Amino acid sequence: MLGNTIGRMFRVTACGESYGDALLCIVDGVPAGMELTDGEIQVELDRRRPGQTPLDSPRKETDQVKIVSGLLEGKTTGAPVGMIIYNVDRHDIHVQQYRDVKDLIRPGHAEYTYIVKYGEYADWCGAGRASGRETCMRVAAGALAKKILAGEGIKVVGYTKSCMGIAAENIPPFEKIEEEARKNMIICPDQEAAKRMIDRVLEIKDEGETAGGSIEIIARGVPAGLGEPVFDKLQACLAHALMSIAAIKGLEFGAGFKVAEMKGSECNDFPYLDENRKVRFRTNNAGGILGGISNGEDIVMRLAVKPTPTVSVEQPTIDMAKMEETTLGAITRRDPTLLSRILPVAESMVAITLVDHLLMWRGYDAMQKFENPWK
Ligand SMILES: Cc1cc2nc3c(=O)[nH]c(=O)nc-3n(C[C@H](O)[C@H](O)[C@H](O)COP(=O)(O)O)c2cc1C
Repeated sequence: MLGNTIGRMFRVTACGESYGDALLCIVDGVPAGMELTDGEIQVELDRRRPGQTPLDSPRKETDQVKIVSGLLEGKTTGAPVGMIIYNVDRHDIHVQQYRDVKDLIRPGHAEYTYIVKYGEYADWCGAGRASGRETCMRVAAGALAKKILAGEGIKVVGYTKSCMGIAAENIPPFEKIEEEARKNMIICPDQEAAKRMIDRVLEIKDEGETAGGSIEIIARGVPAGLGEPVFDKLQACLAHALMSIAAIKGLEFGAGFKVAEMKGSECNDFPYLDENRKVRFRTNNAGGILGGISNGEDIVMRLAVKPTPTVSVEQPTIDMAKMEETTLGAITRRDPTLLSRILPVAESMVAITLVDHLLMWRGYDAMQKFENPWK
């Protein structure tokens, strides 16, 4: 399997399966001298942890993280930061449940493509690397990235935007989104919409079904200038990071797909000078990025999250061992909706990408400012 590392300068390498012993990651490019504790990483991991509300999987993982390298007396040394989380809620009964259906393709999940690619060695236990469990390490690395960004005055916040056609309409100012969203289990800052979303997901759960929706992620405080303008456009790197999360099926920046219905002057964001003579934009249809480079406005991204593929209704499928058509009735644990659990993962992927681009930008900028060093 290739591609378990993301980033150019702030590089995150992760491994670990759904029912393996542990999940691990190595984060390269962490500046030296930063205070860091397990507890700070844990706060973010606790947001993603399953088994906390009726809206997520009953799997009871503690997700206790331990930083095992890159620290001396509580401060980063500049060496790679290594982190580990042991899987604790894996019992024979669960492994047996997966063994019993290991040759059946779970519709909407990754069994078929994994079997095509890895044949008899494909990990059938809880979907291996295709399980949402791998996202623990994205969040652990993301917590580190968020801490670096906080030092730069950059904050990344996400919330549930819609669920099964119910949309959040009353969005508070950016500073209040986090506080308001965390008042309910679907992490939506519009309390009235949140209630309707939760009721709908619980109804769908009772039918043995799962619910889809969308989330919005906003990065505020990103300076103008981040992004390498051709192949590594900021939106291209953010898209790579965000679209690498399982169950994400769509992504838009700023006005997104609405630009298809706009005239040029409706779509264009008009620049103006604020009271400090700083260039700002009156609207943000661009979603904070122009020509692949941040323009100083909020970077606004919306993601479509598909309903969890594992459902408790019978579905037609194929038994790959017998090469016969058959039916599958779900017997394993699942999230009735992925929305609240994906939010910290998506925020983390944005944070990791922004730190990577900050490092690239600073490195390039430093070279640019030398006076003809090559003469
Ligand atoms: C945090 C998280 C938790 C997930 N939990 C489940 C789950 O409990 N059951 C399930 O069938 N899929 C779950 N998924 C989705 C599958 O991992 C995903 O749909 C599958 O790997 C196929 O990939 P694709 O949907 O991107 O094509 C989860 C995904 C994430 C990110």
